[in-house]
Amino acid sequence: MNKLALFGGKPVRKSFPQNWPEFGQDEEESLREVVRSGKWWMYSYVPETLSRVAKFERKFARFQRVKHCLAVSSGSAALEICVRALGIKPGDEVITTPYTFIATVSCLLNHYAFPVFVDIDPATYQIDPRRVEAAITERTKAIIPVHFGGNMADMDSLMLLARKYNLKVIEDAAQAHSACYHDGRSAGGIGDMGIFSFQWSKNLTCGEGGAVTTSDERLADLAWSLRHYGRERNGIWYQHYRSGWNLRMSEFQAAVLLTQLKRLKSQTLRRMRNYRLVMKLLDGLPGVKPMALNPAQKVFPHHLVIFRYFPEEWGNVPLEKFLKALEAEGIPAGPGYPIPLYRQPVFRNLDFSRTSPFMIGRKKPVNYQECADSCPNAEAACAGHTIWLAGRLLLFEPKDIRTVAEAFWKLWENRAHLLEQNKPSR
Ligand SMILES: Cc1ncc(COP(=O)(O)O)c(C=O)c1O
Repeated sequence: MNKLALFGGKPVRKSFPQNWPEFGQDEEESLREVVRSGKWWMYSYVPETLSRVAKFERKFARFQRVKHCLAVSSGSAALEICVRALGIKPGDEVITTPYTFIATVSCLLNHYAFPVFVDIDPATYQIDPRRVEAAITERTKAIIPVHFGGNMADMDSLMLLARKYNLKVIEDAAQAHSACYHDGRSAGGIGDMGIFSFQWSKNLTCGEGGAVTTSDERLADLAWSLRHYGRERNGIWYQHYRSGWNLRMSEFQAAVLLTQLKRLKSQTLRRMRNYRLVMKLLDGLPGVKPMALNPAQKVFPHHLVIFRYFPEEWGNVPLEKFLKALEAEGIPAGPGYPIPLYRQPVFRNLDFSRTSPFMIGRKKPVNYQECADSCPNAEAACAGHTIWLAGRLLLFEPKDIRTVAEAFWKLWENRAHLLEQNKPSR
């Protein structure tokens, strides 16, 4: 039996080289074209010529099967726009998952609205629709499902609830480019509005960037206006109809996205093929279970590869030790979000004093101290039970993918040594 690399044995592999983002001459040439044209801004063009930003918006809307796309400066900016466009106001409540990135809720806090955290399903890591109804109050305005890791939330159940209680739905598809259901409905195109991120780590990237998607023309016009200092599509340049921002995307970002978009379909297919290979090779490994995928979904971006870790099946090898041993074998992995969102310091620092905008028209704030009791699955997910592998590992060749599984099995075969090293020394 091979000795674990953690204890001086030969690692399964040295490491994975940097493989992200994938790029080539196309990206370089498109950027050069923008530089040489001098048209660095989406409004550098005469009206009948499409800017690169506008071309990207059309292409991405078609790709994601949604009527309108508005390119913006980041996924977080896209969320801010959705919150404003849907009229979410101070004191309103919005139901979401605690197992996500802070931007899903900072857009609410920035508008003095309350995120209301509903626990995740431990198998899917998605907001559990069975728990959502109980969290709805007369102040609830919207639901923000997050298509975490590229696996889509249970949109059918959530949309039913939204219709029943007249709630808006913002899909946080920051991690879910390409994701769609068997029936053709796509991430970002099912709720009232959706958002995507094009930040460096995302499956479609230009370093920083984002998009708002919607099939509602009025909301698309509003989003257009909010991104553009409150101007109106057919209005006069110096007429500002609402307070907005400059959240536009530059032509450089759009040039990169247009070339990256051409790569996305085949990258997603590679990710899906290699994901199936890893799962086949890991089939039967005790104590490590892949996150359950949404059965209604056909295209999976696999932005992350998530496993649930059951230390008790490994004789209580703590996750930290497991991950260290895996890393020593040359497989980069992490424990994921370290705390559910409601434990972030920001929730302790919110101002709920009588004059705070949070308290407009309400007697009591949402009590974030109680969330730990109502979200045991999110608590467990963040406390030594989750393994994240970056989905970009799936872009390597199958021979490399095999080494991932090999390392997991090597750890299993050597678990006694991991345990041995785990015992407190006398
Ligand atoms: C789930 C989720 N929502 C929103 C965002 C925010 O996107 P951005 O970093 O482009 O602002 C991210 C980014 O990591 C994310 O993972």
